[in-house]
Amino acid sequence: MTIAIHESALIRHFNTRKEVLKTWEERIGARFSPFRGFKMPDSRLYIEDSDFLDSIVDLIITNERHVFIRGPVGSGKSTLMLLALRDLPTLADRSGNKFVTGYVGMTGLYEKQMASAIADSLRIKYKRSWESSQIIDAVAKESLRRYVEEKSRTALFIEDVADNQEAAFHKLRFLADLPTEEMMDAYTEALDEPIFTLVMSGTTMYWNAMLSFLPQIADRTEPLDVPPLSNAKAREFIGRRIAYAQNKIDVFDPENYSIYPFSDSAVDVINIATKGNPRDIRMLARGCQQVAAENLRNSGNPDVTKDIAKLVSEAYATLLREVH
Ligand SMILES: Nc1ncnc2c1ncn2[C@@H]1O[C@H](COP(=O)(O)OP(=O)(O)OP(=O)(O)O)[C@@H](O)[C@H]1O
Ligand SMILES: [Mg+2]
Repeated sequence: MTIAIHESALIRHFNTRKEVLKTWEERIGARFSPFRGFKMPDSRLYIEDSDFLDSIVDLIITNERHVFIRGPVGSGKSTLMLLALRDLPTLADRSGNKFVTGYVGMTGLYEKQMASAIADSLRIKYKRSWESSQIIDAVAKESLRRYVEEKSRTALFIEDVADNQEAAFHKLRFLADLPTEEMMDAYTEALDEPIFTLVMSGTTMYWNAMLSFLPQIADRTEPLDVPPLSNAKAREFIGRRIAYAQNKIDVFDPENYSIYPFSDSAVDVINIATKGNPRDIRMLARGCQQVAAENLRNSGNPDVTKDIAKLVSEAYATLLREVH
């Protein structure tokens, strides 16, 4: 009985909270919260750092090293991978080779799951009954064939690479070393360069683990640190999300847009507090929406001021300290 009473109080609390947020959203002409999380965000919400994206793609194209996109949780590693995956198939290296790309987004994989995921992502056929080494062999052979016959190098993107079983990781080492000595013997002239590039992502902690446990790959891998969003980019991040929620993303002009009801100084406060981490910017902006929505109810003003941003940033800093 008491449980039922508590439950209904809780539900009432959440319903009130929802209504308060909804009123703020309607006031600014939004159909939903600009700061809600999307499983598959619309690419028009992405802020591109073209210099950094170019540095990733250039490294892949020059074919000297594998790539490790390094950054804290929520810094935008996966987003950068998606952008590089978008660009790579339209490009060629200086010998005129094109690119075949594959993307493994799942983690926690065992050896065989990893082998299957790689083959699937590169659209390479195998039998379910095969062992992982047979599957990886098929991947190696098909990658070689694509290189020799179709002038296509393979670029395999692997998310949060260290979050997989160690045995799965060793499968990658074999691919990272292609072509094998045997292949080179068989194809003398045609095979004088690597044909398989790994583009991995992970945190600094995982990069360090790779340095100590898999120096064979790490030595030939370039770590690239995801840059934080600048204040100007954080502003665009918020502007795009507001425009999207208002159903105006199609006419979004990066040279001239509004972040109403946020103030510029509120965005600066948020960006400094989050060290330019997009996931955290979104969380703080959502916190600011909450406070501004309460204000709107009490005073009729929907603005997200610098003071609101400070309040939310401080609460967030306390929360993080408690988590750590
Ligand atoms: N350049 C960007 N422009 C707009 N939104 C971005 C950008 N980068 C990241 N985001 C958003 O920030 C959130 C986190 O990004 P993402 O998932 O790419 O980070 P991550 O580093 O891969 O995180 P994790 O360590 O959790 O895998 C997502 O909601 C994403 O849409
Ligand atoms: Mg990610």
